[in-house]
Amino acid sequence: MVRNVPLIALAILLASGDVPTYAGADRPPVLEVVGGNEAKTGEFPWAVRLSTGCGGALTAPRVVLTAGHCVGPTGPNKKITVTAGVADLEARGAVTAHSVAVIRAPGFVTETRGDDWAVIKLDRALGLPTLDLVPDASGDTGDVTVMGWGQTGEGSLRQERRLHYATVSTIPDDTCAKAYLPTKIALVTEDSICAARHGVDTCQGDSGGPMVRRDKEGRWAQVGIVSWGLGCARDAYPGVYTQISRFRTAILAATRKIA
Ligand code: ARG
Repeated sequence: MVRNVPLIALAILLASGDVPTYAGADRPPVLEVVGGNEAKTGEFPWAVRLSTGCGGALTAPRVVLTAGHCVGPTGPNKKITVTAGVADLEARGAVTAHSVAVIRAPGFVTETRGDDWAVIKLDRALGLPTLDLVPDASGDTGDVTVMGWGQTGEGSLRQERRLHYATVSTIPDDTCAKAYLPTKIALVTEDSICAARHGVDTCQGDSGGPMVRRDKEGRWAQVGIVSWGLGCARDAYPGVYTQISRFRTAILAATRKIA
């Protein structure tokens, strides 16, 4: 979502006089693009844009998997428009569908507290390829691809018309948890995958979008969901993603329930 809770957390830290030295005035915020490339239509055919300012992925013909913080509570929901089938949201081939219901992770509170996933039922099946979830945790480390229509820089207050993607590398949970210690955000390691690369990251508006990797057959499979980060592409703060392998059974059950 475009809203940025971690920055609010930082603002509270700053306001409380507990000024973190790691993000002082000597270290200006990263304003350059978040190092991605523009995707071509058809390259990530299951990637979708939500009217809530988030991304998502079609995991069944009429089901979108996104982040919990991108939607409202579980129940009927007619408020979300999904744009799919194109990398350029204004291209002719764009197809849209509307939400009819949402199932959000039962334990969801806010993105930094884990359980950041939700499935959206659409009012119609989109005739587009769907994305499978990784079968287990064996794909949870290494190089992965992330994508979205969100900001291309922390200082850009603009959402993109074209889908961008980039490669990042996963980071061990304990390293990531340590990185976030000064912010007083306790990383929920068992629910999260952290990933980063110098100058490359997801950013505001990318939430809910898929983190993917290719399986042995060369097919994309979903490893994570864009969840949160402090700023974007700051070397000190990795991006945090919902760990699909941890929630696979629950996500599949929720999908079956509404598909
Ligand atoms: N929470 C953000 C959103 O709603 C995603 C932020 C991802 N940030 C990052 N540095 N990886 O769009």
